[in-house]
Amino acid sequence: MTDLTRRNLLIAAAAGGAAALAGGAWWYRARMPEHAPGGTPGPGAFVNPLLVPGASGALGVIDVKGPLTMVAKPAQIAILNGKPGRLLAYHVEQEGRSFVNPILRVRSGSEFQARLENALDEPTIIHWHGLSVDARNDAHPEFQVAAGGAYDYEFAVANRAGTYWYHPHPDLLTAKQAYLGLASFFIVDDEEERALRQALGLELGESDIPLVIQDKNFDAAGTLAYAPDEEQKVNGFIGSEVLVNLTQRPRFEAATRMYRFRILNGSNARIYRLAFRSGEQHLDYLVSATDGGLLHRPQKVQEVFLSPGERVEVLLDLRAAREGDTVWLTSREFDPMHLEAPAAGAPAGAHGAGHGAMAMAGLPDGAAVDLLRIDVARKLSYHGVVPAQLSRLAPREPGAAQSRKFLLERSADRWRINGEVFEMKKIPVVVKRGTSEIWEIRNAEKSMPHPMHVHGFHFRVLERRGSPEQQARLAVDGQGLAATDLGWKDTLLLWPGETLRIAMDFSHPFKGDQVFLFHCHNLEHEDEGMMINFKVQA
Ligand code: C2O
Ligand code: CU
Ligand code: CU
Repeated sequence: MTDLTRRNLLIAAAAGGAAALAGGAWWYRARMPEHAPGGTPGPGAFVNPLLVPGASGALGVIDVKGPLTMVAKPAQIAILNGKPGRLLAYHVEQEGRSFVNPILRVRSGSEFQARLENALDEPTIIHWHGLSVDARNDAHPEFQVAAGGAYDYEFAVANRAGTYWYHPHPDLLTAKQAYLGLASFFIVDDEEERALRQALGLELGESDIPLVIQDKNFDAAGTLAYAPDEEQKVNGFIGSEVLVNLTQRPRFEAATRMYRFRILNGSNARIYRLAFRSGEQHLDYLVSATDGGLLHRPQKVQEVFLSPGERVEVLLDLRAAREGDTVWLTSREFDPMHLEAPAAGAPAGAHGAGHGAMAMAGLPDGAAVDLLRIDVARKLSYHGVVPAQLSRLAPREPGAAQSRKFLLERSADRWRINGEVFEMKKIPVVVKRGTSEIWEIRNAEKSMPHPMHVHGFHFRVLERRGSPEQQARLAVDGQGLAATDLGWKDTLLLWPGETLRIAMDFSHPFKGDQVFLFHCHNLEHEDEGMMINFKVQA
């Protein structure tokens, strides 16, 4: 038995089970020549150093201890080689350092205070995606502030540790502003999370890497433009370049150890089928957390779907890799299931590449694309062990008397939730504070994938029915749930024909009626009105 084998067996034993052992340890034996999936740039193109969160600058990390001032305004970031890209970003000055779209790191239970200053030429408001706050801090579009205005946030961070995020939520302008760059992470820390970090020796920005994946289109000057046509308003905006941490075709140098990637799909509409590959071989990796924090146990997978707004935390085992090895974070090809044909003359029900996709020169929705090149550059003696249990996550329980149905479909030229499109003052759903409900959400057969997001509350998934094959094959239990359905969620992908049952618990400490949003996180769908208010009645 080689040292390596023995070490892995010991780790497996210590971790108490096969689930905790990333089988990826063995991939290096079958190394194959580098070969990128069809249509994507060869590996040589991935030469730009990944923008890794540091102590300042773009995606710099702020350990939040006092009030912040966040200014939304244009920024210059050179994304495309040599071209100073103009985008929109949140700017923070803190202890003599400048941050652009800072990653905010906050302890669970602490107080958070921030002032948004709107230096854009149009209204905006920040929404803290996934945080359990009252309606005023959740920042429904009715609270948007005009150009030149300001908005003050103050709330207790009640969420457990996890990878949350923030982005604009103004009326009709969410897709545009998020696309143009306004978005970053809100990372919450707690004891369970600290224990995992210790077990694995994780350091934010070194071995614990937030990755925001966003597809964009650039004009010749390297500038982002947002002007969706009618077809893109129906299908969602799909860009031809996929950026990771605002880096085009990025490369990351790794050591032989465990890594955690906190992956956020910050794209307007593109879904990713995330896998790690070495050559043509897909590697095992572990899902450790979903939108609302750690799973009970790590789940071994080879791929997960991640739709806009969703987060997944994964552990990649590079302990057995060798210097010079390359591992790719990639999005595998899948059927985007754009079953609605909006464009004149497009065949109804056409499948495969999707229509919008056809019209698009670049990278169709569902196409295979490499996202990040990981080069193993350093040997390291590493002693981290993945714990068999990550958290004391309560079992999923319906525990609810009332069940409520939602239908997602396109009718009369609009994407609708129970026939409704968004109206600022209309409140189609009223729930009682402190009660629990089962929400049964059905996506019509002839539809599109809709990543549905609930503001103000996290939920557990009880059942996934009617899934297309590409989703059904990921099921880990009799309820059709995938590994990524096992934790707390605030955003959930529904494929055409699927019905999901989720357990909602409307307990919160806020007095008085609170109005929140339930919407599709395909941001073009959201701005086009696939969103409803729900009121939590005190
Ligand atoms: Cu991330 Cu209502 O949105
Ligand atoms: Cu949200
Ligand atoms: Cu949608």
